[in-house]
Amino acid sequence: MDKILIHGGRRLSGSIKVSGSKNSSLPILAATLLTREPCVVHGVPDLSDTNYMLQILAHLGAQVERASGTVTVTAGKIHCVAPYDVVRKMRASVCVLGPLLGRCKEASVALPGGCVIGDRPIDLHLKGFEALGSAVRVEGGDIKVCAQIDMQGKFGPTVLGTDNVIMAAVLADGVTVIEGAACEPEVVDLANFLNKMGAKIAGAGTDRIVIEGVRELHGAEHRVIPDRIEAGTFLVAGAIAGDGVTVKRVDPEHVCAVTDALAKCGYAVDIAGDSISVLPNGDASALEIVTEPYPGFPTDMQAQMCALLSTNRGTSSVTENIFPQRYMHVAELKRMGAELRLEGATAVIEGVDSLLGAPVMASDLRASAALVLAGLKADGVTEVSRVYHIDRGYEHLDEKLQELGAHIERVKSE
Ligand code: EPU
Repeated sequence: MDKILIHGGRRLSGSIKVSGSKNSSLPILAATLLTREPCVVHGVPDLSDTNYMLQILAHLGAQVERASGTVTVTAGKIHCVAPYDVVRKMRASVCVLGPLLGRCKEASVALPGGCVIGDRPIDLHLKGFEALGSAVRVEGGDIKVCAQIDMQGKFGPTVLGTDNVIMAAVLADGVTVIEGAACEPEVVDLANFLNKMGAKIAGAGTDRIVIEGVRELHGAEHRVIPDRIEAGTFLVAGAIAGDGVTVKRVDPEHVCAVTDALAKCGYAVDIAGDSISVLPNGDASALEIVTEPYPGFPTDMQAQMCALLSTNRGTSSVTENIFPQRYMHVAELKRMGAELRLEGATAVIEGVDSLLGAPVMASDLRASAALVLAGLKADGVTEVSRVYHIDRGYEHLDEKLQELGAHIERVKSE
């Protein structure tokens, strides 16, 4: 198992390019199951999560070719059963359920296992499928679906649930209306891809999506959007340890909540086209953040922000509204000298002058990124173990940080 060693204290400068979005690539790759024809997807990041998805597609019978960031999937003949063995490594495998239902009208996908960021039910996905199924009726000899589905749950709308229901509905005969839909850019990206395949989806990016079913979909070519969470993570790297860091190939609108938060702390943020630069501020201040569905502050940036606020002047508070238990990084940041305490779903952070390198354990993708960011700031060496969590969602994180001048190395451990 690899470890990452960060020799803290180096000032980062220069620029990096953001990779394609992990959370767009996963449902878009799953959507290729909806047609027999070849689909070409560009900008798919080389991550263990995207590789798991390709393995699942291959298991289902699709032909998969990958040449660097371009993936071609031809799902000529598929079957509709994905056993536990195939799906257990990744929660997002659940998003093959929608396209399998859409194409085969039946599917059996094992429930993926537990998740350290908290309970991750799929009741809303199932409610959506049920509404689609129960809305099927025979009318003048034709099967018609006319479903009205509310996807709002206790913690807001569900992203993959919205994706799943869209994919199950595109080939249904009739109109499906999703109320309380997730508005995340990744949902819009999926809808754009499906529309290129011949689907008729309107309203993606709003909370009301209308899908007019079509008889069949055809192959399409698409480039996934830049990864807004990777972009946000590098912007925080620039704030925590930078001397002027520019993040390129990003959609500034997608990271507005993060750039606003950085600006409120006192960091100068400069946006020019698809590049964003962040300048350091030795006297950056505390902040109150609440995670919310898009366009609010993303839960996937909460841990990284905790790392940043650990050394900002004053008392910060970070409230996690999407996954209230997503605080595995708190205990590890404390090992590095940060002063954080949990009050329910809120982390209260007292800014300290400095952090100290320590051996720490990565627990999930974004928590791991937070530990790397803290390591860039800390004095001495930070050793992050269980690096496979990082490799699930950040393409070449260590290499990109090296490009910015970080002293970071990956070592094999027994
Ligand atoms: N929820 C339910 N019932 C459901 C589905 C979700 O109650 O049927 C709850 C969840 O427990 C959570 C909230 O609704 O409290 C939102 O979860 P959502 O379904 O939106 O999460 P997801 O679609 O499974 C995606 C991302 C996550 C990201 C969340 C929230 C992908 C592959 N994953 O998950 O990304 O945190 O949306 O924005 O798109 C990550 O990249 O590190 C990551 C975890």
